[in-house]
Amino acid sequence: MNRRTTLASAMALTAGLALAGCSSDSSDGKPDLKIGQAFMPEPVSADMAGGFLVVKNDGKTADKLTKVTSDISDDVTMHATKDQKMREVKTFDIPAGGELDLERGGNHIMFMGLKKKPKPGDKVSLDLHFEKAGTVRVDLPVKESTYNPKHH
Ligand code: CU
Repeated sequence: MNRRTTLASAMALTAGLALAGCSSDSSDGKPDLKIGQAFMPEPVSADMAGGFLVVKNDGKTADKLTKVTSDISDDVTMHATKDQKMREVKTFDIPAGGELDLERGGNHIMFMGLKKKPKPGDKVSLDLHFEKAGTVRVDLPVKESTYNPKHH
């Protein structure tokens, strides 16, 4: 009887440790971001250009895109489009297990006052500053001005 009690409590203790180890692994608090479908359509003038990409979050923690910068422009902002009108926003949300879609006709990144006019085949580098995941650099391949991957 006495031995049995000892064994049971030893098992309970082990189970408790295993559980604690497991839960600390699955909630490390980091978003797991993957960036894809990035491109910039060839701008029609050097005044402005749009940038498009998809950020997928496979983690259990939501993140936010808080700032965008590029060496091609000193004025890069995030724009939301509603009823065909665009307005600047301070952040874009990337939900846990979800994605942020920046696509033609919708939300996008706006480059004003381009230092040079990119041509198809060029690459424009863009730094995405995330609240939790830190800074991620992506190269936007420059495509023809009418390019839209969703319509292929
Ligand atoms: Cu815009």
